[in-house]
Amino acid sequence: MRERDLDAVTVIDKRCYTTPWRYNAYLTEISNRSANYYVAREGDKIVGYGGQWIVMDEAHITTLAVDPARQGRKIGERLLLALIEEALCQRANHLKLEVRESNRIAQNLYRKYGFEAMAMRKHYYIDTGESAVVMWANDIRRPEYRALLEERRQAIERHYQQEERY
Ligand SMILES: CC(C)(COP(=O)(O)OP(=O)(O)OC[C@H]1O[C@@H](n2cnc3c(N)ncnc32)[C@H](O)[C@@H]1OP(=O)(O)O)[C@@H](O)C(=O)NCCC(=O)NCCS
Repeated sequence: MRERDLDAVTVIDKRCYTTPWRYNAYLTEISNRSANYYVAREGDKIVGYGGQWIVMDEAHITTLAVDPARQGRKIGERLLLALIEEALCQRANHLKLEVRESNRIAQNLYRKYGFEAMAMRKHYYIDTGESAVVMWANDIRRPEYRALLEERRQAIERHYQQEERY
């Protein structure tokens, strides 16, 4: 994610979140050396983004969103995979995130990548008072987890090959 991407990112943010981040919040994030933020593009158009902070051996996924018009096409999954791969490159050993209790779609995606609900933060979101589920994927450097990533990566490739065929 670059500064020139932020207009498009904030448009998607407003479509996806009840309390979107401001332009300046993203500007701060992308200049934070402990953070990495990615955008997903279709041609020139930004259709999604995701970010994380990596501190010591822990990556904290801060946001992940896909334009509602482009959801359900594995873009969110590819972004998550890119974040996890970057976390591995930067020697992280654990992944962590918070997700709204009602957000079953995101929780399904995270579970697919080995995240488990470890705790609840009651009334965490100030806009609605909803609780957050804290999810962790631990010991991501172990061979079994890397095998899971490889399996998921291949499944995504097969999905796109089939889409191209039809
Ligand atoms: C969560 C989000 C990023 C998923 O991105 P996406 O591109 O639509 O999802 P994908 O096509 O990559 O789907 C990957 C997995 O997510 C889950 N998923 C996606 N859509 C789903 C749906 N309608 N119902 C149930 N699970 C769903 C599934 O586990 C799916 O894997 P599968 O296809 O093998 O079943 C997207 O829905 C989004 O932007 N939501 C709004 C913002 C948000 O809630 N972000 C998460 C904050 S913690």
